[in-house]
Amino acid sequence: MKLTRREFGVGVSAAALTMAYGKPGWAQSPVVIKYSHVVANDTPKGKGSLRFKELAEKYTNGKAKIEVYPNSSLYKDKEEIEALQLGAVQMLGPSTAKFAPLGAKEFEAMDLPFAFADDATYQKTMKGELAKFLFDKLESKGIKGLAFWDNGFHMVSANKPIIKPSDFQGLKVRISGSKIADQYFRKLGSIPQILAFSEVYQALQTGVVDGCENTPSNYLTQKFHEVQKHITVSYHAHLQYAVIVNSKFWASLPADIREPLEKAMNEATDYTNEIAVKENEDALKEIKASGRTELHYLTPEQKKAWQVAMQPTWQWAEGRVGKEVIAIMQKSMST
Ligand code: LMR
Repeated sequence: MKLTRREFGVGVSAAALTMAYGKPGWAQSPVVIKYSHVVANDTPKGKGSLRFKELAEKYTNGKAKIEVYPNSSLYKDKEEIEALQLGAVQMLGPSTAKFAPLGAKEFEAMDLPFAFADDATYQKTMKGELAKFLFDKLESKGIKGLAFWDNGFHMVSANKPIIKPSDFQGLKVRISGSKIADQYFRKLGSIPQILAFSEVYQALQTGVVDGCENTPSNYLTQKFHEVQKHITVSYHAHLQYAVIVNSKFWASLPADIREPLEKAMNEATDYTNEIAVKENEDALKEIKASGRTELHYLTPEQKKAWQVAMQPTWQWAEGRVGKEVIAIMQKSMST
């Protein structure tokens, strides 16, 4: 039985869920892993999830069955976090912007403006201590981090060109959840608003918000570029995901299932991180070719002006995420 998003409201008890779902995942044969995410299949995360499914089912010889639910088809952003805690799904891949409800605000450090100079810097940082530091924060919350998946840099858009920091003044901008993004848009004079990813297209189309930020692959697959006249390829922040599981569920798996799943996750992670840059480059080309929106690129001076305007967020963030994680991120970046 599958509960739809509507049927699964906030406040559903664990007992009610067990009744609804029958046996827990690990007592079933095959073991069923429901993996919920909010983006399209044709994105780095969408492709990585399907690759994981394929490899996991192969390496476990069918002892595990991975059910991937893309595009918020099972749960929206906030609901999927609750569903993971309750055991109604076993695996998620939320962006680091969405970890505060799990009690791990430190993940938001990765959303800091202009934190990573380029793709290579991001990739290097993820090989350092940062990943372990962040995953350790999840342990006490009953969540286990398995991998970080890349999805490139954010662009920003509206129905008018956004070139100078002052162009942000008064703009209602959709954000995905991070207080860091809330802060850098506020510093620019915008009015940020959190909306679930599945609601963004309509909010842009109807004018509930004026603009948003996201990566080329998300703009293209959600058609945001069709309802935004101008996109600035600003790459002012980075989008990355942490693939997480319910720790109790994961620990309860027999080793002959968990180990092949780990192998499958490692390979799916390498694959996703290898394709992320190119997928976004290709998506950007397609957006350009569509002629539905005008792309703007910042000159070095214009970029500098954005960096200066967003810089105060770094100091503000120390009170939000703590100095330690920022220091670890910077150390991972430079060693
Ligand atoms: C968003 O909500 O904008 C993104 O986090 C969606 C995603 O998972 O890429």
